[in-house]
Order: sequence, then C-alpha cells, then structure tokens
Amino acid sequence: MDRKLRQAQGNWVDGDRFWGREGDLEPLMRMIDDGAHLSIVAQRRMGKTSLMKELSQRLGERYVCLFLDLQKESEPADAVAALALVLKPHNPLWQKGRAVFANALKSVASSIEEVSCADIGIKLRAGLNSGNWMDKGDELFRILSKSEKPVLLMIDELPLMVNRMLRDGNEGMTLDNIRQVERFMSWLRKNSIEHQGKVRIMLSGSIGLEPVLHQAGLSAVINNYQPYDLKPWDFETAAGCLDALARYEEIVFEAQAAQAMVEKLGCCIPHHVQLFFACVFKHCMHRGDMYFRADEVDELYETEMLGLRGHAEMTHYEERLSMYFPKERLPLVKAILTETSVSGTVTIAVIRELREEYASPESCRDEALNEILRILQHDGYIRKKNEGYVYESALLRDWWKKAHEEFYTRRR
Ligand SMILES: Nc1ncnc2c1ncn2[C@@H]1O[C@H](COP(=O)(O)OP(=O)(O)OP(=O)(O)O)[C@@H](O)[C@H]1O
Ligand SMILES: [Mg+2]
Repeated sequence: MDRKLRQAQGNWVDGDRFWGREGDLEPLMRMIDDGAHLSIVAQRRMGKTSLMKELSQRLGERYVCLFLDLQKESEPADAVAALALVLKPHNPLWQKGRAVFANALKSVASSIEEVSCADIGIKLRAGLNSGNWMDKGDELFRILSKSEKPVLLMIDELPLMVNRMLRDGNEGMTLDNIRQVERFMSWLRKNSIEHQGKVRIMLSGSIGLEPVLHQAGLSAVINNYQPYDLKPWDFETAAGCLDALARYEEIVFEAQAAQAMVEKLGCCIPHHVQLFFACVFKHCMHRGDMYFRADEVDELYETEMLGLRGHAEMTHYEERLSMYFPKERLPLVKAILTETSVSGTVTIAVIRELREEYASPESCRDEALNEILRILQHDGYIRKKNEGYVYESALLRDWWKKAHEEFYTRRR
C-alpha cells in the first residue's frame, strides 16, 4: 500500500514522520559499522538532525546511541556536563558516569531518581571547571569505550559552540579564544583516536564546522572525521513525500501538482518541501475543498512561500551570515547575494565591481573574496555554474530578491 506520511511537527522528524534517505542511511550505517568517525555536512534544514535521530532508532539494538546537543553550550565544561547527562537513560553507563561526579552529586545521591534531569545537569556542571573538564571528560570516554555494546556518540550543533567560543568576549576572534577551541577540539580528536572501534563520533550542526574552524586556522582538528555530504532530495523523492503527506491529510493532488511544486522549489531541501505542503494543506482546509490543482501552485508559491510565512523562515539565512562574517564584510556579502538574485548569475568580474562599491581592494583582498565565496558555497547559498555563481535554491533566490531588490542599486 502507498505510504501515508505525517506532517513534521517541531524541529526534527523520525519514525512515521521520516521520509526517504535510504540512500544515505545505508552507506552511513556501513561506515559506522566500519568504525568511522563522521561529519555530516549540509546546508540548513537539510535534515541532518532528523537523519541522526533516525539512525539512532535503526541502530538502537546494536549500539548505544547517544545524542548530544551543544546548541546552548558555551565552553568545554558545559559540553562535558552535557555528555555525562546523556548517559542517564543508559544504565550501567550512567552508574559509572555518576561515580565520576560523586562529589558534585553528593547532596542528591540518595534521592537521585527523583531529581529532575535539569537539576542533575546543574549539579554536574557545578562539578566542572576549566581545570578538570579534560580529565573528567577522559574518564567519561573511558567508560564509553568499555560499554558492552559499541557507542555511537552523535554531537549536534558543535559548530555553534565552537563559533561561540571563538567570538567570546568583546574583541572578536582573539588568540586566546582560538587556543581554547584548539584545546577542546584536540581533546575530542584524541579521544576519538584512542577509542576508535569502541566509540564512533558523528558530528553535525546547522552551520558548517569546517568554515568556522578554517577562519581560525584550525581545519586540521577535524581531519579524523570522514565528511558525508547530505544532499537535497531528488525530485522523485520530494514529489513522493508530497504525495504521501497528501494521502495522510486526505488531500487529492491533480496529476502533476506535486511535480509542479517540486520544480518551483528547484532544490528540494526537505524542510522547504514540508513548508510548501503545509501551505497547500492550510489553503485546502480554508476553502473546504481538498482537491489541489497544478495551476494553483504558482500563486500559492508567490503568496505563501514568498509571503510572510516564507519570510520568517528565510530570515534565518540572512541572520546567519553575521555568524560567519565580521560586520564590515556584511554589506559586500549581502550585495553579492542580492546581485545574484536580481541577475540570476554573477561572475567574478561583477563581484570585483561590487567590492569597489561595498568594500575596498585593500580591506578585502582576493583571498578574502575567495573565502566569502567558499563559505557561501559551503553553506548552500550559491554554487558555481559555468563562469559564474547562481543560487542553489530557487526559493532562497526568489525570497532574497523580493526582500532586497527594492533598495538595491548597482552602478553599472
Ligand atoms: N527525512 C525527512 N523526512 C521528512 N521531513 C524531513 C526529513 N528531513 C528533514 N525534514 C524536514 O525538515 C525539517 C528540518 O529537519 P532537521 O531539523 O532534521 O534539519 P537540520 O538539517 O538538522 O536543520 P538545521 O540546519 O536547522 O539544524 C523537519 O522539521 C522536517 O520538516
Ligand atoms: Mg539540526
């Protein structure tokens, strides 16, 4: 029977809300079985977290799957406390992990089963400082390496934490900040090598780790992770997802309606596919007619995807630029993106002209320009095509154009 798919809710999806990705899950599981450490590389909303959650489900019998989210963590001691806390659902690992923090947990030791996870987290964190996080962290890794089942440690949002560490304080990327990051990443690397075969580490995050580390001259600290490039869905998978969502919600697509939606997106980032479906669903519910025609796609795209709903989503893409680029670079970066959205493609010659206007050759040399383009490509904004650069996603291009073209003028 044709599968029905439940719409996504909240952030990530797994189980009966998870679609496709068989062509990724299989090779990844093979690499994990081979003992590889992996780094999932993809632009925003590609489904990295969902993929890791789904992997946990599928590998849960054979591995102890630990999911460590470092979204809010700012320093190594936070990360080690969070690592200890994710052991909690896994007795006997937790019993051993607890013992490492016996002092910090002393006051709640007799009632620990009744204490909330958040409170235990606070106690664990209180037992750590800049002088002992490394030893305690090493002890935790030793415990993991002795686990009966091998451990798959999935670390999400490590790049956010690293980025925060690099820019800690008011002086930007100081040497001291860079040293702290190097110390932390080298510690992780050392443990990944020492416990290879027992503990597999899988990294991911909503911003690219490599560009963040590259800026600090630290790319080498992740060369023990095999990069895995998570691609957008192909048209067939995306249209299949739309059909399956429609079946669940009892929407009837006219032939070609799903295909028209997919073509409109151009690049099928799963989240954008789900968003588009949510627009169709709302539209059909609102008018009380669940038959959706292909010739309705264009208007819905214009009014909804490029309207307020899209605006909120796409603002992420704009805000995120300030994580990578210093303030003085942003006008040039945004001008490159606006020019590309307006013209469809930009060549290096045009980019150099933009540099004249929005920066200066002295303050932004060719290497800096290359770095901008490298980051924009790495993060899925643009890609190289023939002699120039074009948007990866038609949705992002249309949205960026709509948001920026009005006040944009380029001397020609
Ligand atoms: N395999 C999938 N099946 C169905 N929907 C998916 C799938 N993967 C991703 N999605 C959709 O994309 C959304 C984002 O997924 P997820 O949070 O896993 O992406 P991400 O790459 O981790 O995002 P971020 O870059 O923000 O961390 C989900 O809420 C869901 O709508
Ligand atoms: Mg994520």
